[in-house]
Amino acid sequence: MKPNLSVSLGRLKLKNPVLVASGTFGYAEEFRYFMNLKELGAIITKTITLEARQGNPPPRTCETAAGLLNSIGLENPGLEAFLKEKLPYLSKIGVPIIVSIASEYDPKEFIVIAKRLDKIKTVCAIELNISCPNLKSKKLISQDAGATYDLVKDVRRLTRKVLITKLSPNVSDITEIAIAAKEAGSDVIALINTLSGMSIDIETKKPRLGCIYGGLSGPAIRPVAIKMVWDVYQKIKIPIIGMGGIIDTQSAIEFFLAGATAIALGTANFINPGIAIEIIKGLRQYCIKNKINSIKELTGSLKCQN
Ligand SMILES: Cc1cc2nc3c(=O)[nH]c(=O)nc-3n(C[C@H](O)[C@H](O)[C@H](O)COP(=O)(O)O)c2cc1C
Repeated sequence: MKPNLSVSLGRLKLKNPVLVASGTFGYAEEFRYFMNLKELGAIITKTITLEARQGNPPPRTCETAAGLLNSIGLENPGLEAFLKEKLPYLSKIGVPIIVSIASEYDPKEFIVIAKRLDKIKTVCAIELNISCPNLKSKKLISQDAGATYDLVKDVRRLTRKVLITKLSPNVSDITEIAIAAKEAGSDVIALINTLSGMSIDIETKKPRLGCIYGGLSGPAIRPVAIKMVWDVYQKIKIPIIGMGGIIDTQSAIEFFLAGATAIALGTANFINPGIAIEIIKGLRQYCIKNKINSIKELTGSLKCQN
């Protein structure tokens, strides 16, 4: 038996549902030593902004119980340098490239970047990162349903590329935001970005991150992420890319059962840079063992007893 692992994210067809999450895989080149990159379902790039950003002051990461706190602050080379220096390598890999974008100051920057990417054939989809908790703005776009709707609508008007909206867990009701993104024309919802968090060194009495607080990722956030995928899956019927604390096949499968069509690996790439390929193999074995012909059958197949 050869199970079918292919899935669709809107018009984007993937040979398998295992993606690498934005910001945890760079622009892929460094990971070529650990895997055949061609085997991935898709690559989501580190978020880019219009202008280059140096990011936040160090220390930018620290480990916490079953998790990782980071406040990278969207360090990236900026749109033009990305197109010149990073995209040519990515385009040659032979897997769909999803470019993650954000604005630094003005949401209009999303429009400028999306317009430019729209003309580039090797960019298969655009992920709107409206959920980065490590910038100095008071409120995230993804913390406001109206602002989410307006931004997605504006970008939708100017591109036919598959549009993915990445949501923040730092809200009281993530389904409201997911509905707003869907109604504005998002093809796919990605969740979750990191949870806002903080850690303190009791000897120095200083915060362990240079920026005081940051975003928590890794296994510590997995139950929160699974619940949010489940909640959103109940409300909207567009594909969900689930992420948050996936470190092995078992944790990946939890996300499919909760309603994800595809999954993305973040912090796990730092623990084991070849983990994505192991999980693709693990999904295949799980399907064989459980006589599942297509991975699509797993999505939302959670059995709840009433
Ligand atoms: C060091 C680091 C950098 C990240 N940078 C980005 C980023 O640039 N854009 C983005 O949308 N998410 C970024 N994220 C969030 C991840 O893509 C992912 O949503 C989150 O870490 C939860 O998944 P995980 O628990 O598997 O890491 C970053 C996460 C980490 C740990």
